[in-house]
Amino acid sequence: MIKYITETTDYLISKGFENPDIGIILGTGLGQLVDEIDILHEVSYNHIPNFPTATVEFHKGKLIYGNLEGKKVVVMQGRFHIYEGYSLQDVTYPVRIMQQLGIHTLLVSNAAGAINLNFKKGELMLIEDHINLQGSSPLAFKGVEHLGERFADMSAPYDADINSKFETIAKEHNINLHKGVYASVVGPQLETRAEYRMLKTIGADAVGMSTVPEIIVANHLKLKAAAVSVLTDECDPNNLKPVDINDILAMAAKAEPDMITLFKELIKNL
Ligand code: HPA
Repeated sequence: MIKYITETTDYLISKGFENPDIGIILGTGLGQLVDEIDILHEVSYNHIPNFPTATVEFHKGKLIYGNLEGKKVVVMQGRFHIYEGYSLQDVTYPVRIMQQLGIHTLLVSNAAGAINLNFKKGELMLIEDHINLQGSSPLAFKGVEHLGERFADMSAPYDADINSKFETIAKEHNINLHKGVYASVVGPQLETRAEYRMLKTIGADAVGMSTVPEIIVANHLKLKAAAVSVLTDECDPNNLKPVDINDILAMAAKAEPDMITLFKELIKNL
């Protein structure tokens, strides 16, 4: 693994990806943040040695380097999910690379279903903590101890200082930013009514199919990490309607301007 990481990192440095401050994983609902970046370099995932190959049709699959609000950023346009058949190590490989390039902070966005029915679709939720329901760990492999501590601490996986900055920004800009616990599932099927009941019982406020592996690895590497969900549907087990993917995408698009404001203002203040 270390040999692969070095090879990938050296390649990206040769393409000009030098000393970024912040890594950003653009999930659903933050794609247009790219338009705000002064892009200096970009490389398709399929040109980067040892990178998993991009497959999701909704994403373009590029690593971008540039300036955003006075900071050097490296941005993943398109992420990898286990439901596409990638391993948890594949999914989190880019986080290890961004850390080697020099980032100190990882920011993540995603789309999620609202389990907490006080939250409405089209609103945003700051992730305060998570529940990993993906059945495994991105740290469960031979040799992990050469890359960080095997028994990585998870007492505070989301940076309290960044989260309080997010809350201040939300107040200043009149953005309704909820706070809660995100549960990650494998997917790609959505949940049954019984599963939504279980998620509520175990303390989840939102559910999605990403983010937790990347946050675990960010903590393994002692990066500061934070994540925001756009709530795209309401998961009420007593009144469950079939999910329409177009509705999900429309809700993500609706929340996108607020999400972009939160991220831009945060980065300005980091
Ligand atoms: N489950 C339910 N609803 C969702 C999800 C999910 O994983 N992601 C976005 N909306």
